[in-house]
Amino acid sequence: MKSLNISPMPEQNLEQKINAIRSEAETSFKTATTSRDLYDLKVKFLGKTGSFSVIMKDLSSLSAAEKPLAGKLVNEAKQALESVYQVCETNLKQRELDEKLKSETLDLTLPGVPAPLGAQHPVSLVTEEISMILSRMGYSIRTGPIIETDRNNFEGLNVPKDHPARDMQDTFYIDESHVLRTHTSPIQVRTFENEKPPLRIAAPGSVFRSDSDVSHSPNFHQIEGICIDRNVSMADLKGTITYFVGEFFGKGLKTRFRPSFFPFTEPSAEVDCQCAVCKGKGCRMCGDSGWVEIGGSGLIHPNVLSFSGLDPKEWQGFAFGFGIERMAIIKYGINDIRLFSENNVRFLEQFAT
Ligand code: PHE
Repeated sequence: MKSLNISPMPEQNLEQKINAIRSEAETSFKTATTSRDLYDLKVKFLGKTGSFSVIMKDLSSLSAAEKPLAGKLVNEAKQALESVYQVCETNLKQRELDEKLKSETLDLTLPGVPAPLGAQHPVSLVTEEISMILSRMGYSIRTGPIIETDRNNFEGLNVPKDHPARDMQDTFYIDESHVLRTHTSPIQVRTFENEKPPLRIAAPGSVFRSDSDVSHSPNFHQIEGICIDRNVSMADLKGTITYFVGEFFGKGLKTRFRPSFFPFTEPSAEVDCQCAVCKGKGCRMCGDSGWVEIGGSGLIHPNVLSFSGLDPKEWQGFAFGFGIERMAIIKYGINDIRLFSENNVRFLEQFAT
């Protein structure tokens, strides 16, 4: 082939120069380690302002006879490099893909991250269990409002205004005639005024008293049991509660009834149950007595019946009100009533089933 001479490097003729660039480009393409570097090299050699474009500019100084040959050499070199580029690019891309897949490999046999599941609050659990037991015993569930009238919370329950019995419960007053209910007993008044006896009602709910220490919370829960029928006696009350306690804490735990006073029951009794933790032997939970108090009870006072329009000569009844937290404390051996309202997950998750 005829040698071509071109400025500004007179010592190298054009053909040599093209071949030099061609082999430099080919070596660079083949040694590029990433497709990004390879692309940059392509721009460097074959791009608009790349080495070959510079040479093309130089061609203008050649004679008309030399131009076609020079042009042909440049095009051949460019085409050859283009195909080297393609091969290198395919190889590098494949290698990069392989590495990416390898680094992102997912081991489907690894155990998953466990999703923490919520659990029912012990107060809800116990409320539900007590409600189930009482339902099986023929009791229907009723509820009432948390903000009660003074009339339903006190007056209808034989606690007139200025009666000293109001001091038994430290009441949160909303206004003159409304309170945060201090017990679930106002549901007795609501039931007697709205339903016809004979009746068996269980009424769980949230109650409020201005009181707070290890065993008292200003907001706690009770469940009220109410039975109205003809010829109801203390024996029915004792039998019902003893059966219920056996169902809830397990058979074999005795109950005992201590004479007490509530304005809305006569006679009244406080209910103790043998400590479920030590089975009556005596432990820290029960203050070594073997017994724990679970609530109050009694035969419904005739004044309560007649206040709501029931004739005490025709109808008698019994009622009991148990503390839900207290029953949960005994059943699960919990030592501080405040745990119920702290929402500590480590406490709550122990009740997950
Ligand atoms: N309401 C009473 C209390 O909260 C408990 C009770 C209910 C007593 C029903 C007798 C009958 O202390």
